[in-house]
Amino acid sequence: MVGISTKIDTRYWNISPHRPERGKVIQASSIISGGGIVAFPTETVYGLGADAWNSRAIEKIYLAKERPADNPLIVHIAYFHQMRDLVQDITPTARYLARRFWPGPLTLVLPKGNGIPEIVTAGLDTVAIRMPAHPVAKSLIYYSRRPIVAPSANRSGRPSPTTALHVLRDMYGRIDGVMDGGTAKVGVESTVLDITGDIPIILRPGGIPLEDLERALGQVDLDTGLESRGEDTKPRSPGMKYRHYAPKGELHIFLGGPDVVTAKAMVEAAGEWWRKGGRVGILCSREVYEMINEMDDISDAIYFMRSLGGWDDPGAAARGLYSALHQCDLDEVDIILVQALPTRGIGLAVMNRLLKAAGNRVVKV
Ligand code: TXA
Ligand code: MG
Repeated sequence: MVGISTKIDTRYWNISPHRPERGKVIQASSIISGGGIVAFPTETVYGLGADAWNSRAIEKIYLAKERPADNPLIVHIAYFHQMRDLVQDITPTARYLARRFWPGPLTLVLPKGNGIPEIVTAGLDTVAIRMPAHPVAKSLIYYSRRPIVAPSANRSGRPSPTTALHVLRDMYGRIDGVMDGGTAKVGVESTVLDITGDIPIILRPGGIPLEDLERALGQVDLDTGLESRGEDTKPRSPGMKYRHYAPKGELHIFLGGPDVVTAKAMVEAAGEWWRKGGRVGILCSREVYEMINEMDDISDAIYFMRSLGGWDDPGAAARGLYSALHQCDLDEVDIILVQALPTRGIGLAVMNRLLKAAGNRVVKV
């Protein structure tokens, strides 16, 4: 992939996440309508936006992110009417799900409308659409007067950004601006749901839990490509086939409960890596975090440790996940030992991201 040779002057706006200042939003939206690319907060993660009708602007996104060209983008809308030009047909299921879950962290995949540039959908005949709930995202789309395509505002393969600082670390000099609207509340990306067939299929677990979709729709399937460890089944969401969401250090997942057995196994492994010269970080449930802190034989092996919240609180793990992975990078940790957490609710998305980041390196405790 081609790198970026000229450094772009990246503008910065500090903006209220509750009542975005109109003047600042208009400055950012005029960059979008002029063919530039601007990062902005959504309730899930920060996105990197461009005019959905402008192929040349969208090319800049692929370049800035070093994103593979076969990975399509999500089109973000501010109000339901904007969907009309984007799809073949607004199906009853789409209408129902929109009423129930929009604005919010749900992305719907539908047969695409005619005018959509090829580069948005990477040649697929479907398009992914979402209406974000974040006031800054909403007003940016509104004042730009067009739908905005936006992948997460990180370089391809790296952990997604949940703060403007994360965005700047990856993207400063590569994009035209960043709207800083504080920390993204959900912390993991939207759920991508394919509703082109009879049974809806989750292509990427995310902010809206499988259980909520099942309550709304009855049967909902998980894309079989998601579970696969080998290369035999291809995920239907192109983005899910890459090693992804990964910090620079090597990640290992520990499958164990919130108990002392897990705590000991992680401390022991930390010691082993440390003796081999690695700098070790640990991410775990609050329960295991407290147990490790109370051990008296704990060595100097652990350079960095962070709790992802209580074992029963997948929402907390989602909120803290990416910032913990970014912190591992800042601390230049070589080996990151992570306790697996329950896959209930949004926990399914958390474990999906962790397993991807770990390239499926899993240790049973
Ligand atoms: O929460 C989110 O969804 C964030 C915020 C910024 O809205 N966006 C985001 O975009 O996560 P991105 O580009 O990082 O991930 C989009 C995912 C990729 O896995 C991509 O392959 C999939 O959606 N996707 C996009 N269009 C698709 C399509 N037509 N069919 C199947 N998958 C699609
Ligand atoms: Mg992404």
